[in-house]
Amino acid sequence: MDKRIITTAANDYDSDIELSLRPDSIDSYIGQDKVKENLKVFMEAAKKREEPLDHVLLYGPPGLGKTTLANIIANEMGAGFKATSGPAIERPGDMAAILNSLNEGDILFVDEIHRLNRIIEEILYPAMEDFVIDIVIGKGTGARSVRLELPKFTLIGATTRIGLLTAPLRDRFGVVNHLEPYTTTDLSKIVIRSAGVLNTEIDAGGAAEIARRSRGTPRIANRLLKRVRDFAQVRYDGVITDEVASVALDLLEVDKNGLDNTDRKILLTMIDKFDGGPVGLDTIAAAVNEEPETIEDVIEPYLIQLGYIKRTPRGRVVTNGGYGHFGLKPRIDGSNGEQLQLDI
Ligand code: ADE
Repeated sequence: MDKRIITTAANDYDSDIELSLRPDSIDSYIGQDKVKENLKVFMEAAKKREEPLDHVLLYGPPGLGKTTLANIIANEMGAGFKATSGPAIERPGDMAAILNSLNEGDILFVDEIHRLNRIIEEILYPAMEDFVIDIVIGKGTGARSVRLELPKFTLIGATTRIGLLTAPLRDRFGVVNHLEPYTTTDLSKIVIRSAGVLNTEIDAGGAAEIARRSRGTPRIANRLLKRVRDFAQVRYDGVITDEVASVALDLLEVDKNGLDNTDRKILLTMIDKFDGGPVGLDTIAAAVNEEPETIEDVIEPYLIQLGYIKRTPRGRVVTNGGYGHFGLKPRIDGSNGEQLQLDI
């Protein structure tokens, strides 16, 4: 699945791109206006009080810039930055060592924080609340607990699955921010900014074309920009116009709304084989030879966001919008799979 050009998962190729294109101040970070305004106030207040920022939780779909924002917060606060992730911390000792290595005011960024195991999570509670950790030394009857003072630090947790966070952990974050998919306007600005960093000429039409096909996600926009830039240099005069972007993205099989072959296959299978639904997830998965989890977590969210599919108690249904994407009319005027069942 990660071979898809429109995947929101980061790959090795992206890490180079993301590092060079990443904004490093809050004012150069485009979009997410509400989150930015909140953070600016909280950061300024913390600086005035000469205290570290309260712990921050960032949640939202992958590729929207949670890591970038965490880096920006560290820059703006003039703080040190240490990064780790839920799955990377296997033993309580790993977490204790990381906490113990922090300096006063540092930012500790924990990506995929919902994947921390419970025992490790419990070390975080007193660390977040009172800046202490309790370490058990020895075993059996000789075991005793030693309390270790930590410097005051800020934990920034990032998650794509806020629902999987335990309540005690969630409640210990003073600032909780939700990142949302970007508008086409904001994505266009990001593409223009990134093209500038890459020394690539682009016009407003070219940027808008890439933005429209980037599924609300800067990571995808930047990836598509790089591919279109190659195309513009080899087949055209190097300038990205709407025509260049459009031809290149058609060749990459990313369509006008950012759907790729896998998305189209699922929608068309639901339409052709199951009359648009309702059809169960497992049945769709078997018909297109994908894992049900992949469909549910990776493919379906964007189709739902576009309003092409909806979930009903009896299964997934292709909406009129979904039919319309292929220039098809729903089977009965204005109806979809749900109503059709009554018409037999
Ligand atoms: N590159 C990736 N995300 C960005 C953002 N939100 N603003 C500016 N450049 C970006």
